[in-house]
Amino acid sequence: MKLLVTGGAGYVGSVVSALLLEAGHEVVVLDDLSTGHEDAVPEGARLVRGTLRDTASEVLGGAGFDAVLHFAARSLVGESVEKPGLYWDKNLGESLALLEAMRVAGVHRIVFSSTAATYGEPESTPILETDPTRPTNPYGASKLAIDTALAEYARLHGIGGVSLRYFNVAGAYGRLGERHAVETHLIPNVLKIAQGDGGAVKMFGDDYPTPDGTCVRDYIHVTDLGRAHLLALEACEPGRHEIFNLGSGTGSSVREVVEVCREVTGRDIPAETAPRRAGDPAVLVASSDRIQARLGWKPERDLRTMVDDAWTFLRSR
Ligand code: UFG
Repeated sequence: MKLLVTGGAGYVGSVVSALLLEAGHEVVVLDDLSTGHEDAVPEGARLVRGTLRDTASEVLGGAGFDAVLHFAARSLVGESVEKPGLYWDKNLGESLALLEAMRVAGVHRIVFSSTAATYGEPESTPILETDPTRPTNPYGASKLAIDTALAEYARLHGIGGVSLRYFNVAGAYGRLGERHAVETHLIPNVLKIAQGDGGAVKMFGDDYPTPDGTCVRDYIHVTDLGRAHLLALEACEPGRHEIFNLGSGTGSSVREVVEVCREVTGRDIPAETAPRRAGDPAVLVASSDRIQARLGWKPERDLRTMVDDAWTFLRSR
């Protein structure tokens, strides 16, 4: 298939681009490089530099694309609380420009990178796709609004859309891994300290209602996540919008993650308790039963493999 990958210079977008190329697809990456990296675009993909608003219609128009995989977004919860306008503009505004460009160009399939942040604080665990969506920050709210727009474009314009709601993505795929200018995620932060960046891991809160008092998250390997996109692409049906959670179905606490990082790196990583981080739910674990049943997807790589791959990636840089 001829595929447009928006945000293909970012972490998940670059890994999915690589997997698509390996599967024999033709890949064009559209990325404004505001947070992505030109050298993360896999060899064999063509990079078009630009925003969706300015370039999506030009790129898609009359070019015979079969589908779009849409990753381009701002994705920092904290930043979204400080700059909600930026998130509504970059996430929702640019996605609407993309959907319009698809409609005009007659491209009918899209796989969208959604998030667990659309659910907000869960009422029960594991989280099902049918659970209430009450995002607690503009990041989650802007992604949920895109899911809503996709449902409308499916109903009214015959687009086939699949939204994949990621839980905590980790790990690396060879030379493709997490390279955020401001790193807020747990695993890369712990590994940087293991590498000798100095300081101690700050574990945000140890008085949550969880077995060891630290927050529990559902970690998923970026390669497992990537494979789900290829299955979702095949499953896009005109006129239908579907939502699938993507997690492993099991939770790991912050303390457990730090311990696995110590085991994998063989280093004595200092860690201390710090105050809770605003807006962190105690437990976020996905039910992935729906995607397992519908698309036959299963996670194959455990937390140790995620840490191992992220560690190899970090040391290679
Ligand atoms: N944490 C620490 N110390 C750190 C970094 C994180 O204790 O230095 C804790 C956090 O408080 C949280 C857990 O580790 O309890 C995981 O935090 P991350 O920042 O790695 O990930 P989040 O669960 O906050 O966020 C992830 C995605 C978001 C998405 C969200 C959905 O990164 O994009 O899941 O709930 F919105």
